Amino acid sequence: MTDQATPKAGHADAGHAINWTALRAAANEAMSHAYAPYSKFPVGVAALVDDGRIISGCNVENASYGLSLCAECALVSSLHMTGGGRLVAFTCVDGAGGILMPCGRCRQLLYEHSTSGMLLETVSGIRTIDEVIPDAFGPRELEEFAARNKS
Ligand code: THU
Repeated sequence: MTDQATPKAGHADAGHAINWTALRAAANEAMSHAYAPYSKFPVGVAALVDDGRIISGCNVENASYGLSLCAECALVSSLHMTGGGRLVAFTCVDGAGGILMPCGRCRQLLYEHSTSGMLLETVSGIRTIDEVIPDAFGPRELEEFAARNKS
């Protein structure tokens, strides 16, 4: 996909030209704020929201190690703090600016707040949220379940 992908009607990015260069720049800027004294592995993430705004986040570690917050946690908090909405496109970078795959737990976090067909920049190219967390369990599945079981 080019840096200025043309949106297709009905797709996750309909109405938005996804500027991957700008998203990567926002992720790199966020990465520069990472607090990663233990792993020494700073991470930055950025996403395009369905109203057009760009949000970002960095990882924040903890002396207890296990309580460390992935960059995606900050992103999701920022999503809600700045008006909510759904994620249309996402990228994640490491300390050298290289594309990083979100960890398994964070794929679930992203899925919760995704538009159907949300796009992610990954180590193997642009992928949809359904490709990076196949057969996922999330709000859409709960809605389908509720609709099926309505008396
Ligand atoms: N990390 C993230 O922030 N996001 C991910 O998706 C992968 C891992 C962070 C957690 C920890 O602070 C550091 O990377 C090393 O695992």
